[in-house]
Amino acid sequence: MDFQDFFLAVTITLGFIKICKSLFHFLNWIWIMFLRPTKQLKKYGSWAIITGSTDGIGKAMAFEFASKGLNILLVGRNPLKLETTSKQIIDKHGGNVEVKSVVIDMQNISGKEIMKRVEEAIDGLDVGILVNGAGVAYPYARYFHEVDLDLMDSIIKVNVEGTTWVTKAVIPSMIKKKKGAIINIGSGSTVVLPSYPLVTLYAASKAYLAMFSSCINLEYKHQGIDIQCQVPLFVSTKMTRMRASLFVPTPEIYSKACTKWIGYEKLVVPYFFHELQSFLIRTIPDVFLDSYMLRYFLNMRKRGLIKDSQKASK
Ligand SMILES: NC(=O)c1ccc[n+]([C@@H]2O[C@H](COP(=O)([O-])OP(=O)(O)OC[C@H]3O[C@@H](n4cnc5c(N)ncnc54)[C@H](OP(=O)(O)O)[C@@H]3O)[C@@H](O)[C@H]2O)c1
Repeated sequence: MDFQDFFLAVTITLGFIKICKSLFHFLNWIWIMFLRPTKQLKKYGSWAIITGSTDGIGKAMAFEFASKGLNILLVGRNPLKLETTSKQIIDKHGGNVEVKSVVIDMQNISGKEIMKRVEEAIDGLDVGILVNGAGVAYPYARYFHEVDLDLMDSIIKVNVEGTTWVTKAVIPSMIKKKKGAIINIGSGSTVVLPSYPLVTLYAASKAYLAMFSSCINLEYKHQGIDIQCQVPLFVSTKMTRMRASLFVPTPEIYSKACTKWIGYEKLVVPYFFHELQSFLIRTIPDVFLDSYMLRYFLNMRKRGLIKDSQKASK
């Protein structure tokens, strides 16, 4: 074999390996996305505890879990909304499930107090699943120096500290029974995009959750506890105030997608059309995305400032 033939054989072999690898990835993706069975959630335990359960994604997950026969412990800051949500779940799934609730305003009590209240609330319950869904975002985009102190406080307390202390309260009982699942709701802003300017604190708080989840996933996997960070793109809730569409699902559609991923990978974009968006976004070079995001959010900031000044002049 002369050099030319050898070079041709190596090139064909490498090309073949590359095609096989891509095909394997594609088939694996089809399996994960459409065919892989959902885990039996009740096997983790008979109770699910959900923070941020009085609205949006958290509330939809509470209904989704109740439909699967799980008892629900709702965590929320507003007693009236907790009562309404509890009643709505009982009305829909009452015969099959129990619902309890605990009032915790994560912005206004210390981390240790959050932990104590959750520990008391779960005492005697067979908690299998924890969803850390409570979250706060900017009402509109703004520079970091413009973020008012109350908003700054609530983002750090709810998104970062709340999730951390609730997890700290729940994990010992999961370790004891050697099973459990923890789902932290992060954000696509930190995984899919290279930066999220003018919504900096929110994105940074969600980046914390991605790393927090990834690390404790490794710490507790061998103890039977599946910990993951789910990173949605836009969902139609009071946080985004966006109308529902194919790429902006309702919380109900989104929560069905979430449930399918519980117990599997440690970082997931659960909704198919978000995954498609992420794939397309990742093909764009960072430098273009950075410049686009900056212009996009500067525009949002301008609109937010106009709305604020209109409100103030009323
Ligand atoms: N919607 C999206 O497009 C999107 C995208 C990426 C990530 N996420 C994340 O998904 C999670 C759910 O968001 P969502 O869109 O469903 O928002 P949402 O409809 O505004 O719900 C947020 C939930 O968090 C609760 N919460 C807020 N502050 C709290 C506090 N101080 N103490 C206790 N609970 C508090 C809210 O309680 P109240 O009912 O009393 O207001 C509500 O139940 C958040 O972590 C968010 O960051 C959302």
